[in-house]
Amino acid sequence: MRLIPLKLAVIILTAGMGKRMHSDIPKTLHPLADKPLIGHVVDTAWQLDPAHVHIVYGFGGEQVRTTLNDKRLLWTEQAQQLGTGHAVQQVIPKISDDDMVLVLYGDVPLIQADTLKNLCAKATADSLAILTVNLANPLGYGRIVRNSLGQVLNITEEKDADAQTKQIQEVNTGILAVPAFRLRRWLNLLNNNNAQGEYYLTDIIGYAAQEGIAIHTHAPEDEHEVRGINDRIQLAELERYYQLQQAQQLMQQGVMLRDPARLDIRGQVTVGRDVVLDINVILAGQVTLGHRVKIGANVIIQNSQIGDDTEILPNSMIQDSVIGAHCKIGPFARLRPDNQLADQVHIGNFVEVKKSVVGVATKINHLSYVGDSIIGTGVNIGAGTITCNYDGVNKYQTIIGDHAFIGSDTQLVAPVTVGENATIGAGSTITQDTPAHSLTLSRAKQVTIPGWQRPTKQSSNK
Ligand code: UD1
Ligand code: CA
Repeated sequence: MRLIPLKLAVIILTAGMGKRMHSDIPKTLHPLADKPLIGHVVDTAWQLDPAHVHIVYGFGGEQVRTTLNDKRLLWTEQAQQLGTGHAVQQVIPKISDDDMVLVLYGDVPLIQADTLKNLCAKATADSLAILTVNLANPLGYGRIVRNSLGQVLNITEEKDADAQTKQIQEVNTGILAVPAFRLRRWLNLLNNNNAQGEYYLTDIIGYAAQEGIAIHTHAPEDEHEVRGINDRIQLAELERYYQLQQAQQLMQQGVMLRDPARLDIRGQVTVGRDVVLDINVILAGQVTLGHRVKIGANVIIQNSQIGDDTEILPNSMIQDSVIGAHCKIGPFARLRPDNQLADQVHIGNFVEVKKSVVGVATKINHLSYVGDSIIGTGVNIGAGTITCNYDGVNKYQTIIGDHAFIGSDTQLVAPVTVGENATIGAGSTITQDTPAHSLTLSRAKQVTIPGWQRPTKQSSNK
């Protein structure tokens, strides 16, 4: 095998209509593991270190461009979809003769960089390489037609194939590597005299064979790499395949999954040793789980770091937060963005925490809202405590000193500071700073009215 001899120009075709999705969203923007299909392809393309990545777009191109928001990409419109050859004709003027062209499809998301590197390594200035697979059911694909010596003669599309050609199980994935100066010439020769009246890119294979140019084939590691998405059923199937792959990777890294079929990873996960994940966990964005982290059932974690030995109990949701070691979060806890929890923090059921810093060993165990707060170490926040951080227009901060004790059902009307070691009596509405080492409470005195009678029901026919 030779190294890639020429600069690499990747062309990603995306202009097809995608009618079978029955959607207003362009097909390539439908998500696989929360990333648009075309996002997968573009990320893989950049891994090849190409000189340029071109995208040929049709309907919804503007939407695709804004979604990808990648300034390095070069865009070419194919206003009318007259076939894959026509699509490449639109972009070829932008490509230089000393490039090696690699054609990818925007709706074939799981193609792997290694497969493409191996494919490109087979293509030279004097040869081309096509990615092919053998399918038990080749229906619908272009067939790889070979002579008795096994040399590729052409690719024949399903609709143009006779009964004998339809028997061929080796099919064209659509992905190929071809030197630009040859491609440019062959594209000029294309016509649409075929069953679909389209300009087929695949016809260049026939021209190459006639000119005696070597045509190499290469097969992907796994057939799923070249699966295209045409409808939502195929999308759902590929999502399951992809999720199982990721689950297996985690298990290979030492994670215990209670059920690999009930885990969804929609981003990148970094794990320590002996992590345990219960069922129906969703990990999204960048998630880091320390050693021995335990995640209960039905937990969603997004863009967060969880420290060693921390346990997230069932039905909790954690977003954009950093959690220390030996913490206990949940069940039914909600950490909204921008929290920083130190070690040994306990956040209990029906507690919502937002944009707060919580010190070591502080406990917020029941039914509380803590927002825009800085809470010291060893603080105990009683059940039903609310930081009133919003006056309807502005947000204000609550500061609670180390070892403070906030009695149950307290409202802390921000901006307010509770001193170190201060105690707040239950049921208080605190509107002013409270001194350290003292008890503060704001509560009407309890009174008793002896012999008080409950009201009785009045008769209604009066
Ligand atoms: C194509 C191949 C076929 C191969 C199959 C693999 C041709 C003629 N046929 O067939 O050999 O087995 O892919 O899936 O190339 N596209 C455009 N502009 C167009 C037409 C298509 O950008 O005018 C894009 C589509 O968005 C898609 C890709 O090209 O990403 C393939 O188009 P599709 O219509 O799926 O090709 P097939 O007819 O299935
Ligand atoms: Ca297709």
